[in-house]
Amino acid sequence: MTYPVITVAPDAYTQLEQLGTKAKFWYPYDENQKALFKAGRPGTGENWAEKVCCELARLLGLPHAEYELALWRGTKGVISPSLVPKNCRLILGNELLAWVHKSYEPAAKYKTTQHILRRVIAVLQQQIIGTPTGWVCPPQVSNAVGVFAGYLLLDALVCNQDRHHENWALISNPELGLTLAPTFDHASSLGRNETDETRIKRLNTKDQGYSIESYVAKARSGFFENKSSTKAMGTMEAFRECAKANIAAGQYWLDRLHALKDSDFSAILGEIPDDFISPEARGFANAMLRINRNRLLSLNGTHQT
Ligand SMILES: Nc1ncnc2c1ncn2[C@@H]1O[C@H](COP(=O)(O)OP(=O)(O)OP(=O)(O)O)[C@@H](O)[C@H]1O
Ligand SMILES: [Mg+2]
Repeated sequence: MTYPVITVAPDAYTQLEQLGTKAKFWYPYDENQKALFKAGRPGTGENWAEKVCCELARLLGLPHAEYELALWRGTKGVISPSLVPKNCRLILGNELLAWVHKSYEPAAKYKTTQHILRRVIAVLQQQIIGTPTGWVCPPQVSNAVGVFAGYLLLDALVCNQDRHHENWALISNPELGLTLAPTFDHASSLGRNETDETRIKRLNTKDQGYSIESYVAKARSGFFENKSSTKAMGTMEAFRECAKANIAAGQYWLDRLHALKDSDFSAILGEIPDDFISPEARGFANAMLRINRNRLLSLNGTHQT
C-alpha cells in the first residue's frame, strides 16, 4: 500500500499564499474548509519529507497539519487542509514576538538571531495561551510549552532545520482565545535535498567525519541562544532546552518516541510512492531516523535503546 496522491483540479486555485519560499495556492477543499497546495522545489524531496514528518507526528500523538501527496497540472506537491477554523486567525511567531518585544523585527528573514528560544518559551508559558483546540492534551503535557517541546522533539528526530518564526504560530479564536497552532511545515528535513550519490557515499563511508552520525549532529534549529550567537542552536539542544521548561512533557514525548520501532520508520518511508522518493533517499532518511531516535532516547537514562 502506498499513500494516495490527490489530484488537484487545474483551475482550482482561488488565492495565492505569499508566505514561505515554495510556490503555493489555496483552493476550496470542502464546504467548510480550504486547502493549500504547495509544490516542493524540483530536485528536492520536499514533498515526501513533508508527508513522512506528518505521519511521524501522527505516531507521536502531536497536533499537526495534515498533508497528502498531490499533483496539480503535472506538478508534484502536497496539500494541507487549513488548520485555521472559520472566523479565526493565525498569529505567526514573528507577529507574536513583535507584540511582546518592541524591538523585534517581524520582517527579518528566516535566520534572525532575534529568534531566541528562551523568548519563545517565555511567551508560550503565558497561561493565556492554550493547547491546540480539538486535540486532547495528555496530563503530563499540560500546557502550550509542553506541546511545543513535542514539536521540537519531532524537529530533532527528522533534523528539521527550518523552525523559523513563520513556521510556528498561535490561533486566535474569538470564542476560545489564543491557542498554540498544530505543528506545520517540516519539508526541510530528512536530508531531502542531498543527491543520491552523496547519500550512497555517506551510507557506505568508513570515514567517521562523513558518516550519517556526523551529518545529523550538524542539524541546526531555527532558534538562537541569544542575540550575539553566531549560529543557530542544534535541533537536539533546542528540544533539551524547551523540555527543561516542562520536564513532565519532555519525558512524555521521549516515552512516545521510545514506543516507536525502527519498523515504523521503514513502513512510513515504504508507503511513499516510488515516483516521489528514490531508494537511496529512503535508506538515508531511515538511517537518520534510527540514529536520531537513539540520540534523543540517550538524553535520559530511563530508556534502553
Ligand atoms: N495547513 C495550513 N493551515 C493554515 N495555514 C497554513 C497551513 N500550511 C501553511 N500555512 C500558512 O502558509 C504559510 C506558508 O506555508 P509553509 O510554511 O508550509 O510554506 P513554505 O514555502 O514551505 O515555507 P518555508 O519558506 O518556511 O519553507 C505558513 O507560514 C502559514 O502561514
Ligand atoms: Mg514555512
